[in-house]
Amino acid sequence: MTEPRRKILVTSALPYANGPIHLGHLVEYIQTDIWVRFQKMQGNQCWYVCADDTHGTPIMLRAEKEGITPEALIARVWAEHKADFDGFLVGFDNYYSTNSAETRHYADDIYTKLRTAGLIEVRAIEQYYDPVKEMFLPDRFIKGTCPKCKAPDQYGDACEVCGTTYQPTELIEPYSAVSGATPVRRESDHHFFTLGRCADFLKEWIRPPQVQPEAANKLSEWLDAGLSDWDISRDAPYFGFEIPGSPGKYYYVWLDAPIGYMGSFRNLCDREGLEFDAFWDKGQAASAGTELYHFIGKDILYFHALFWPAELESAGYRTPTAVFAHGFLTVNGQKMSKSRGTFITASSFREHLNPEWLRYYFAAKLGAGIEDIDLNLEDFVARVNADLIGKYVNIASRAAGFLTKRFEGKLANVLSSDGDSHIDPVLTQLVHRRHDIERAFEAREYGRALREVMAGADEVNAYVDSKKPWEMAKQEGREAELQQVCSVLINCFRLLTLYLKPVLPKLAGDVEAFLAIDPLTWEDATRLLPEGHTIRPYQHLMTRVDPKSIEALVAANTQNMAPTTDSHSQARHPERQQHESQANIEPIGETIDYDTFAKVDLRIARIAKAEYVEGADKLLRLTLDLGGESRNVFAGIRSAYEPSQLEGRLTVMVANLAPRKMKFGLSEGMVLAAGPGGKDLFILSPDSGAEPGMRVK
Ligand code: MSP
Ligand code: ZN
Repeated sequence: MTEPRRKILVTSALPYANGPIHLGHLVEYIQTDIWVRFQKMQGNQCWYVCADDTHGTPIMLRAEKEGITPEALIARVWAEHKADFDGFLVGFDNYYSTNSAETRHYADDIYTKLRTAGLIEVRAIEQYYDPVKEMFLPDRFIKGTCPKCKAPDQYGDACEVCGTTYQPTELIEPYSAVSGATPVRRESDHHFFTLGRCADFLKEWIRPPQVQPEAANKLSEWLDAGLSDWDISRDAPYFGFEIPGSPGKYYYVWLDAPIGYMGSFRNLCDREGLEFDAFWDKGQAASAGTELYHFIGKDILYFHALFWPAELESAGYRTPTAVFAHGFLTVNGQKMSKSRGTFITASSFREHLNPEWLRYYFAAKLGAGIEDIDLNLEDFVARVNADLIGKYVNIASRAAGFLTKRFEGKLANVLSSDGDSHIDPVLTQLVHRRHDIERAFEAREYGRALREVMAGADEVNAYVDSKKPWEMAKQEGREAELQQVCSVLINCFRLLTLYLKPVLPKLAGDVEAFLAIDPLTWEDATRLLPEGHTIRPYQHLMTRVDPKSIEALVAANTQNMAPTTDSHSQARHPERQQHESQANIEPIGETIDYDTFAKVDLRIARIAKAEYVEGADKLLRLTLDLGGESRNVFAGIRSAYEPSQLEGRLTVMVANLAPRKMKFGLSEGMVLAAGPGGKDLFILSPDSGAEPGMRVK
């Protein structure tokens, strides 16, 4: 019986184009990629698409700060993201951008259909507006004092200190994180998707198997609490798609982001000659039996399991077969942290360690649920070394040497050495593990799949220990037996490789070259390497993780909370402060390459003005003249300088540091200073002749 091949479309959430890929993101892309590779190995037709999520206020503001267009910013970030995904072997069939003609087309299409169905309402609402920057402020760009616990400098949506969520209008003494100005209330028209009218549909939809059981509970709580209308428009200035017929109004980024799945797939269809409608049109998808799966983090469940199916259903598209949410990554049991060096970027991981180690570790930790998963760095080293090197790779290195040296790499038959005509039991057992492993991969229970694979590897190693090929090699007349045992081992190694291939695709490719075989698919599990098959000489397949490289990785990701501008984060990290005051001379850190250095734009600046800041006992507000451009910088040098000592002087500043929102306003750079802190701080002064704005190289 041959099962019909499944036709599957898979997505991962679209990462925002305003920051680098980090290990938290990778949980998702690795989880999805393993599932996709497994489906492809099964012989299913499976397409995996993704894209950068490019719209919204943060991206617009960041481009502005960098002095480039949003298009230039998202092009640069796209290339960075793509390189990271390639490095981690995330094999998208298409990696696209939401800022594309295809996404715009489907956004307009869905919006128009919702409108025609009477599901869009336009009404005026009042929101905070930044009168200096002349824009409406998203909640995240309004800060102020928490109405509940009175913690200062909290974001407009929730307090990080006491966890209360609130409306930005409830903040005490609100200020704009963009300009520092006090926001005013202003009215404008917004477009709303009347989600409440989809409640009956959603009530039916948010159940297993469309969503996981834990997610279903959460979703019905939300549903029972009542669905408010969803505000899907934003006012100019905004980087996004303008709403047809509504000049100055743009789709809110979360409206077009999931539509980016369609945009990316459409782009793939046009390139590969695939039928878009077979996957998205309600009727055609049903008759073609195509499947659609979205892998997401639990934080964006609301968007994917309520808004998105409601939009699709109301616009006449198919709804997802299932939405698979995963938990959040912690490192060493805690939230990733820049000061602890555990906010690790994908690109720095690639520089220091082998990406397949992380794929293996995440897979070993992943199940089908939405619990958080922890990357414990010590456990990472131990697990990868014990499993991949100790249990798996060693099997090949133990067997291949004898075969190459004694038998020109030729395999013997692998029938049982007991003389009967059965395949050696160690091999049969390994073949029999196939179904459990398959079921586990299909169910996204990768941890279970890998435990099964490693239990198989344990049996193979027990077999080596009982047969002792190294003794056979020393004794005369045991040649045939030696060749037979090593051939069993090579066959076992091939099977283990097949089972591990969704997780370790590159290593599997190297093994296929070593064994001189075609790319392994799941069907190959029922076949053995025939007698006389010749393998290539063994070449090193994978090294052990060196704990030192972990230290280097953490060091490279530890962000110095430099004393010059950042009194806030210093206060949050007393460990660091203590460390810094232990010695006047800090050890020199890791080397950086020239390109990294060249990215730091150091400029000569004239301190036009220096002032005390009310309520800040460590800070001075500096107005810096960069030769035509003026910058506002808060520097933590109050204990070392009187304002009058500074005014008129030249100094050196980092001019391209991302601006920081502080309680007192926006800090747009950093001045350089040396010394341990307190009274002992020395700002850097260039020789005379230097001019404000000159680049320091
Ligand atoms: N742009 C939106 C998604 C739009 S999908 C139509 C977004 N982007 S994101 O860059 O913040 O996150 C991308 C994915 O990575 C999300 O699924 C998110 O849950 C996941 N993760 C981001 N940080 C994570 C961890 N620390 N741990 C695990 N997953 C995390 O959300
Ligand atoms: Zn609070």
